[in-house]
Amino acid sequence: LENEGIVALPTETVYGLAGKAHSERANKRIYEAKNRPADNPLIWHVHNIEKALLLFDLSTKAEQRLKILAERFWPGPLTIVAKKNPQINSPMATIAVRIPKNEITQCILRRCDFPLAMPSANLSSRPSPTSASLVLKTLNGRIDAVMDGGVCEGGLESTVLSIDEEIKVLRYGLISSPEIEDALKEGVITETNPHTIMSPGQSYLHYAPKVRKVSLLNINDAAHFWFKNSTILGRKGDIAELLRRFGARIDGAATIVLDDQPVLFAKQLYEALYEAEQNEERDLILLAPPRREDWAAINDRLRRAAGSALNGI
Ligand code: TXA
Ligand code: MG
Repeated sequence: LENEGIVALPTETVYGLAGKAHSERANKRIYEAKNRPADNPLIWHVHNIEKALLLFDLSTKAEQRLKILAERFWPGPLTIVAKKNPQINSPMATIAVRIPKNEITQCILRRCDFPLAMPSANLSSRPSPTSASLVLKTLNGRIDAVMDGGVCEGGLESTVLSIDEEIKVLRYGLISSPEIEDALKEGVITETNPHTIMSPGQSYLHYAPKVRKVSLLNINDAAHFWFKNSTILGRKGDIAELLRRFGARIDGAATIVLDDQPVLFAKQLYEALYEAEQNEERDLILLAPPRREDWAAINDRLRRAAGSALNGI
């Protein structure tokens, strides 16, 4: 990392592709390895709040908010976006910063003592990797190394939150809006208006497994579906319900059964999307979990995997 190499590292959310954030060469290599659109900025990772504060240029109000959030959620799966320190060379007026919790990566960040730019360690548009072998699935031969830290604890990316003026969720993630509201005692805006995309990454195709077609299906609409030659991915309870209600139609379909609880479902989801690729010629049908707050980040990822580019659709 000191010599501007790029290395995939485990975090508690997903694996990231790390490079020295101040290095133009490392940044260029990250964008090339991921085939990432040049206008989609990277999250900077540091190991403590002092280092994080150096990257921002905060109003008094934003600094208050950041300190409360850091106290409650850092190290952990929250990325904070605010006005950047003008000395930092980037085309954006803001910067996104996170302190990850994973011990291996914490240790590396401490040893480096410089910030690491770290997007998810996958080819752009593909599902994020939750293990070292999933990193290699799309980046083998394109990066210098991967540090194997086992399976990620969380399995979904961090929540990206902007705090300068309104407090706004730019990307749903492992920290829910009610948790943020509870910490800040302020309201949080969650819906993303398609005309005012604030987080460039939100406008691209994401999490797309390589199969013929991906659809997101509400179980109540399943009567209109024929499942025979498809792969069905859903909660254990929903798949059982589907079998009860439409048994014959499901004959011959492959199933990928995930946990009924959102925390475990999240942990299993991306690996399951890659698993679905083993049946590349089949349609993939994702069974939608309830539209509840504790499923919000998962629903967001499922909608994107099915090809809807924006939040809230
Ligand atoms: O959990 C995570 O956040 C993982 C781990 C590795 O830390 N990283 C990750 O990075 O998911 P990435 O690059 O895949 O997603 C970062 C998101 C993108 O949607 C990007 O557009 C947004 O954060 N972002 C980065 N800088 C931003 C900024 N200054 N303003 C608004 N959005 C920003
Ligand atoms: Mg990503």
